[in-house]
Amino acid sequence: MAEDAVAAVQALARRADRVCVLSGAGMSAESGIPTFRDAMSGLWSRFDPAQLASEEGFRANPARVWAWYAERKQAVRAAQPNAGHVALADYGRRRSGVLTIVTQNVDDLHQRAGWPQTIRLHGDILADRWLQPCPSGRACAVAQALPGEPPRCADCGNLLRPAVVWFGEMLPEDAMASAEQAARACELMLVVGTSGAVWPAAGLAAVARRAGAKVAILNPDASEIDDQAHWVLRGTAAVLLPRLLDVG
Ligand code: OAD
Repeated sequence: MAEDAVAAVQALARRADRVCVLSGAGMSAESGIPTFRDAMSGLWSRFDPAQLASEEGFRANPARVWAWYAERKQAVRAAQPNAGHVALADYGRRRSGVLTIVTQNVDDLHQRAGWPQTIRLHGDILADRWLQPCPSGRACAVAQALPGEPPRCADCGNLLRPAVVWFGEMLPEDAMASAEQAARACELMLVVGTSGAVWPAAGLAAVARRAGAKVAILNPDASEIDDQAHWVLRGTAAVLLPRLLDVG
């Protein structure tokens, strides 16, 4: 580990007026939630995102997609925030008004660690929403679901789907606008546990850098946006964040 880089990030974390964190799946890996793109354990090495994380995939086989998300929901409910989530929330409380957390994660571990105001770019796996606006113009009402099937509207047949952003879908506008604002305003951006492969989230590191922030990447492996970093710290979220942020 480059000790001078650790010291530089610690010093900036201590004095910066605005710190923005962009987290990805690696943030929750040490809580036991699998990432997407790690070669052996990543979800996309075992499952096809076109089938499981797109509207077309859901329409083609709603039961398969619903069952896959049901399993992932259970894993999220069973998981606990790790030392990285806790270090971030503690830091945010100690340095009031300084921290913004922007996450690509659909779990609720930042929130449960004590940072309920986390900005979620990719939705919330524990919530559901209707697949389409009610075609009748009235509000949809959940009917009794068949076992293994997503619930349907009793009137129009509309399906419930997980409230996450799927491939090909827009990010929630308010969340993205708040994230861009935080990226532009920060003096330090910590990019934690993301491969940097998915846009527009990955572009936030460049937004921060262009606006004058120092960017530190925390990741045990190379990411696609390492070139945006002033410092690349090779290590895991649960080990590095307590070390970097326990700075008074
Ligand atoms: P990825 O799975 O693409 O990348 C996870 C990153 O975490 C990799 O760079 C790993 O090296 C790193 N990593 C693994 N263990 C770590 C640890 N303990 N500490 C720190 N880093 C670790 O996940 P994301 O970049 O989040 O989209 O993927 C972006 C989006 O792609 C996700 O939000 C998801 C997916 O399709 C949606 O859900 C819409």
